[in-house]
This record gives sequence, C-alpha cells and structure tokens, in this order.
Amino acid sequence: MADAWSQTTTGMANSSWTFSDVRNVILSAHKNTGAQDKVGFYDTWAENYEQDVALLDYRAPLLAAECVSSFFRGDREKAAVLDVACGTGLVSAHLKKMGFRHFVGIDGSLKMLELAKKTGLYQQLTQCLLGQDEVPVKSETHDIVIIVGALSVGHVPLTVIRELWDATKPGGYVCMTTRGNPDNREYKAELEQMIRALEEEQKWSRVTVVEVEEWEKAVSEQDSGPGF
Ligand SMILES: C[S@@+](CC[C@H](N)C(=O)[O-])C[C@H]1O[C@@H](n2cnc3c(N)ncnc32)[C@H](O)[C@@H]1O
Repeated sequence: MADAWSQTTTGMANSSWTFSDVRNVILSAHKNTGAQDKVGFYDTWAENYEQDVALLDYRAPLLAAECVSSFFRGDREKAAVLDVACGTGLVSAHLKKMGFRHFVGIDGSLKMLELAKKTGLYQQLTQCLLGQDEVPVKSETHDIVIIVGALSVGHVPLTVIRELWDATKPGGYVCMTTRGNPDNREYKAELEQMIRALEEEQKWSRVTVVEVEEWEKAVSEQDSGPGF
C-alpha cells in the first residue's frame, strides 16, 4: 500500500512518469487484499487514476458503455443509470456522449467520489462498501446498472450480483466486466456460476458476452488475458 502511494504521488510531480511506473501501481491494485484495503488504495490513487489508466489505454469503460448502448432501445434522455464502483466517472462520461443523462454513482472510495462529483455528471453519489453495505438504491429503479473494472478478486464480492439485479427495472440491463487473467480465474468462474444461477431462476437472461483481448495494455505475463 505504502509503495503504491509513494509511486502515485511521485507521478504527480514527475512529468517522466512512465508505463512501467503505472504498471507497478496496477499490479499493487490487483493484489488480493480485503475490500476496505482496496478502497484505501483507490483513495491514494484517485488524483492520478485517470492519467495513469490513460497511459495503459484502459478501454473497459468505453467498451462497456458501447456494449450496453448498442442494446438499449428505450428513451436515453429519461433512462436511469446506476454506475456501480463509478470511480472518477469514466463510464458515465462515455454514456453521456451516447445520449444518456441521468446518472447515480456509488463507490467505496471517498476520494474517487470527490473527483466524480467534480465532473458534474451525477445526480447522486453515495459512498458504499459493496459486499458490506447494501447497495443504496430501491428495488427495480434503474434502466441500466453497470459495473466496470471492479468485479475481480479482492475488489467487489460476488454477493453483490443479486443486488445489482434487484436494482434493475424489469426489462433493464445489467452490464458487468471482469478480467480473465490467471490471478482472477477462480473469481471469474464463480461469477459465471452466479450468472447462470440467476438465469436458472429466470431472474434475467443473457444478452451477450464479449471477450476482449486488449482492454488495457498488459502489465505482466500474468496479467495478459481477456476481459468481458
Ligand atoms: C478500477 S476502478 C474502476 C472505476 C470506474 N468504474 C472505471 O472503470 O474507471 C475500481 C473502483 O472500484 C471501487 N471499489 C473496489 N472495491 C470496492 C468495494 N468493495 N466497494 C465499493 N467500491 C469498490 C474502487 O474504489 C474504484 O473506484
């Protein structure tokens, strides 16, 4: 944790911040710590988050927004979007360019939420430690529930999936991304199992699964692998 902090703060002052520096930050983000530690890590990374992920060509927010947007047939200007683990707001920023207007964001990191607030995108932003606190929205209130970059080992526990379904209006969409890297395979398999269980309960049906090889530059051999 301390290492990541000193690297990210060095980056703010140092214009020669490189891919390799960012790689070290990302690898520490992928370490399997508890949810509270993870959110603490994002607090320390918040100020540099967007410039660092830009260096990595992090495309997951754009790809997920394009995916859900391509299926959405309702009135975009009226649709309610719940951006779960919204971070600084990259996902909602893309959705706004695609015509969506109403965003509610939740995240565990106050620092990330402060930056999200500055974007002016969100009607409401709430701090919530997913897996521990209940998702702070009423049942069946959102047309789109989207979670990008947060369903992976040590981040958001899989118990949250049912809460995401519950927050979605009948006929609405839940859009999720995860990583296929070796360190995340077990989590991904459990996520797929959870998705299937909800299908069997006829709570939702699968619309599409998109496997993406290059959703960000691989930061290590271990780290290469598809995401969806
Ligand atoms: C990689 S960032 C993704 C942010 C944004 N969705 C994006 O794609 O740019 C992961 C986010 O998940 C949040 N997060 C991780 N674990 C969490 C948890 N258990 N509860 C709430 N937020 C969590 C972090 O604070 C961070 O903002």
